Amino acid sequence: MNYHIYPTEEEVDQAAAELFISSIRNIKNPKVGLATGSTPIGLYQNLIAAYQKGEISFKGVTTYNLDEYIGLPESHPSSFAYFMNTKLLDHVDIPKDSTHIPQGDADDSYEEAERYERIVQSAAPLDIQLLGVGMNGHLGFNEPDDYLTSETHIVQLSETTRQANVKDFDSIDEVPKTAITMGMGTIMKAKKLLFFAKGIDKADIIQQVLEGPITTQVPASMLQLHANVHVFLDQSAASKLKDV
Ligand code: GLP
Repeated sequence: MNYHIYPTEEEVDQAAAELFISSIRNIKNPKVGLATGSTPIGLYQNLIAAYQKGEISFKGVTTYNLDEYIGLPESHPSSFAYFMNTKLLDHVDIPKDSTHIPQGDADDSYEEAERYERIVQSAAPLDIQLLGVGMNGHLGFNEPDDYLTSETHIVQLSETTRQANVKDFDSIDEVPKTAITMGMGTIMKAKKLLFFAKGIDKADIIQQVLEGPITTQVPASMLQLHANVHVFLDQSAASKLKDV
């Protein structure tokens, strides 16, 4: 694990964006895995700023998102597609058909998961994958369970996850109960993982993920097995780590 720990969230966002940019700058057509949630918003703002200053172009980039809620169309303000468009993709020079995210409102979600898996597999291994972490240690929407799934699949969201994500909806009843997510195998295949977390609320789960036993009950603990992980934390999120 390569640790990058900074006093403030803003420094994490900036340093993570710099690593992201330097990682893809010299690749002709980089394939990047993107994440949603509040954690990457600052990084995306830094990417937009770098694009506006002419420091990076996204013309040759292809993106693959981790996950999407089942039932939400791209136009729904709480969908991850809407999030990606408004937080990053609409503000840079990436062609729309170079961006991929599971279709939440597909007629048949199982077929959609298979279609998305084919797209991701044809691109694998991704050059870099951004990853936040859920309060229960989920990656994408790979929830704690007795087993983990390698490929893109449909998941039942845990109550912990639905409660954590209610901030993006008007009420808990509106938070979808299912989602499509990239599987752990695909995530782990990426050449470089940029894993990050900020804030004291994530301190306990970060300690379990990075220093606890590798277990399917904390899916992100699998990252300990990956050879090229960059961990970006602010001091609050890192405050319970013992070995750093
Ligand atoms: C969602 C996403 C995850 C993300 C998590 C954490 O559940 N599926 O990919 O890591 O939220 O969100 P936040 O960054 O808001 O804590």
